[in-house]
Amino acid sequence: MNKQLNIGLFGLGVVGSGLWDILQEQAHQPFSIRKIGVQNPEKQRTPPAHFLTLQPESILEDPGIDVIVEAITHPEEALALVTQALRNGKDVITANKKMLARYLPQLLKIAAENERTLLYESAACGGIPVVRTLDEYFSAEPLDKLYGIFNGTSNYLLTQMFRYQLPFAEALKQAQEKGFAEADPSDDVDGADAKHKLILLSAHGQGLWVHPDEVLHLGIRHIQPEDIAWAQQQGATIKLVPTGKRLPDNRVALYVIPHLVQRDNPLFHIHDEFNSVHIEGQYSGRHVLTGRGAGSKPTASAIIADLQGLQRRQQYRYSKKRLLSRPALDESLEIPVYIRLPKSAETSVNLESIKVDSVEIDGQNIRLEGHVRLSDLKSLRGALHAAGAFVMQR
Ligand code: HSE
Repeated sequence: MNKQLNIGLFGLGVVGSGLWDILQEQAHQPFSIRKIGVQNPEKQRTPPAHFLTLQPESILEDPGIDVIVEAITHPEEALALVTQALRNGKDVITANKKMLARYLPQLLKIAAENERTLLYESAACGGIPVVRTLDEYFSAEPLDKLYGIFNGTSNYLLTQMFRYQLPFAEALKQAQEKGFAEADPSDDVDGADAKHKLILLSAHGQGLWVHPDEVLHLGIRHIQPEDIAWAQQQGATIKLVPTGKRLPDNRVALYVIPHLVQRDNPLFHIHDEFNSVHIEGQYSGRHVLTGRGAGSKPTASAIIADLQGLQRRQQYRYSKKRLLSRPALDESLEIPVYIRLPKSAETSVNLESIKVDSVEIDGQNIRLEGHVRLSDLKSLRGALHAAGAFVMQR
């Protein structure tokens, strides 16, 4: 008989309310939400008022609560809650990818010092069981590559723009209404959210943890109908793709950039909020995990899986960290790129580091195809972003 777990929940947004709803439907589950920490007392909510509290301590210090489920937005506020929970002897399940990507080593240390467990399947790719898969199943096999679609909002936007010619702002509004987007969707459209998930998956799959500031991300904020038309002329589509690629000498290239994706690439067929994680093992070859990467119940289902994991005393092993000798970030990889920027911005971006194959002037835009090293692209990122350029890997 499984032990009943009493939950203190922080956050009643998309993920927290999904957890509440599933546990109402699945009353047989041995999980019971005891208290819910919220910030806004005025908001209309489904759970009865006696579950709600504005006082985090009344949850963190409640000896009747075994596990904290953290599902708030702000990474530093989440860090404070999670740290205190671990110190108070509670296990923690968190959906907060931004907090984890920034503070993973620190959090693991605190969890170990307090002999507590920290699980976060819901933090990467919603309902897809990828953290556990990488951590357990692929704990010994070196991975040549880890890539795919890790952000539901941007994939939803691209799908709507390509299929229905929906304007960017309209597609984003829909993604927000459906509960896919972050409270501030900048991280979704600029590629940072996909990067946070890449960092987490790379820690488990490639043994590398890197601070998010070190990793290049470029997003889809500046995509224009002319970029979409250009891709369609090639019979291709565009997807936002995070990549962790193994290079010689145990070095790893990590980066997030939109990709031109041809029809014969399985990512071409991943639509809407679906995510797809491609794992290329040195010996076993390619594996693909596809599923709902965002949304209330898919994400909450991963929290339930973690609750069950806690009952089985599941712990992440981070075996790659121990098995591989010091994997290091490498930015020397050169990638083929397409850059489209307004003619007016030509002088504000120094494109000298790009090996140019072709340049076209098209109306008010310059379209350039060439090759660039990741380190150079990272240096150019700020200027390209400010200039409204759209960059993708060809
Ligand atoms: N905003 C995220 C996404 C939610 O769109 O993928 C799931 O992490």
